[in-house]
Amino acid sequence: MSEVVVDRLVKHYGPVQALHEVSLHVPDGEFLTLLGPSGCGKSTTLFAIAGLDSPSGGRITVGGRTFYDGSTGLELPPEKRNLGLVFQSYALWPHMNVRQNLAFPLRLRKVGRKEQDVRIEEALSLVEMGAYIDRYPHELSGGQQQRVALARTLVFRPSLLLLDEPLSNLDAKLRIKARSWLKQLQRQLGLTTIYVTHDQSEALALSDRIAVMEKGRVSQLGTPEEIYRRPANAFVADFVGASNFLPGEIVERTAGTAKVKLAGGEVLSALWPDPASPPSGALVTVRPEHIALSAEPPVPGPGLNILSGRIVERSYLGARLLYAVDCGGGLVLMAETETRVEGDSAWLRFAVDDTLLVRA
Ligand SMILES: Nc1ncnc2c1ncn2[C@@H]1O[C@H](COP(=O)(O)OP(=O)(O)OP(=O)(O)O)[C@@H](O)[C@H]1O
Ligand SMILES: [Mg+2]
Repeated sequence: MSEVVVDRLVKHYGPVQALHEVSLHVPDGEFLTLLGPSGCGKSTTLFAIAGLDSPSGGRITVGGRTFYDGSTGLELPPEKRNLGLVFQSYALWPHMNVRQNLAFPLRLRKVGRKEQDVRIEEALSLVEMGAYIDRYPHELSGGQQQRVALARTLVFRPSLLLLDEPLSNLDAKLRIKARSWLKQLQRQLGLTTIYVTHDQSEALALSDRIAVMEKGRVSQLGTPEEIYRRPANAFVADFVGASNFLPGEIVERTAGTAKVKLAGGEVLSALWPDPASPPSGALVTVRPEHIALSAEPPVPGPGLNILSGRIVERSYLGARLLYAVDCGGGLVLMAETETRVEGDSAWLRFAVDDTLLVRA
């Protein structure tokens, strides 16, 4: 069992506070991703779990074992944590071939010679690198080196896998292949995994759950679908995919929804699942890909928001088109659709179910 509990983790670097009471609960076997912009504290969190950096406060337990407790000063040394680590710089030892690279962590753990051979073969076959056992790192491509780096962490059967941007050095195509391969491997081994990336599509594709981080705090923790479809605030809506943000005044509230009057006078319905009242300054958000466009006015219906405007820009994206539509009152909405709309004026329609009120 390798359930991870991070409780109110704090980290100061001199005057800089890198982590503000970060709490995470990762059930055994889960693939959790820390997602956020550069400098938000992803690596700091991972380093604290690995024991490579001392936190300033809080608690970390893995599989019921206390790794760190700020209140008692307990701190388990990294070599006693039995964790598999892969970092962005997947440094293999250049003077050792693949076999020797993998044998090293086993020798450290005093695994016998015969058992070493069995485990090395097993780990290399998992990452499909068995044929490269006698090669040196400089004789491998970047992607192959990353796979060997992963095998080197799997070979000693870690209780937890910590991966910090492990696919960052691959080209776009290989990255997508490596992604699905990594996910399969993780499922197959049932390894609890904490994965760090600033790539939102990678996070959505790989994770059981995502923790979106902003300035040393967890901004939202949820499944990829929850994060994408029900962002908790404007930061998450903007960081994960693109969003339109419409300011307005809340004029009515019923259970789960709110009516918001925009600057031009139009009224939209938006979901507000939170039982607390929406704060003033909340924004209506809708994703460009959830807006349908037509030259003719759409048939109004319940559960539908409708706006009209003037097309001010069209960008060709290949399979789809991105329109900028000026709806008056300083409001320009982006709509991404397969539909071609000629002429200047356009109608926009989007489901209330895709329209969300979020904290600014
Ligand atoms: N050794 C250090 N001394 C001082 N400040 C540090 C140190 N390490 C990190 N920081 C600061 O702590 C904050 C969080 O850094 P961290 O490395 O966790 O970011 P990150 O989310 O991993 O970003 P990136 O995506 O760029 O890797 C940043 O503001 C960073 O400048
Ligand atoms: Mg980092």
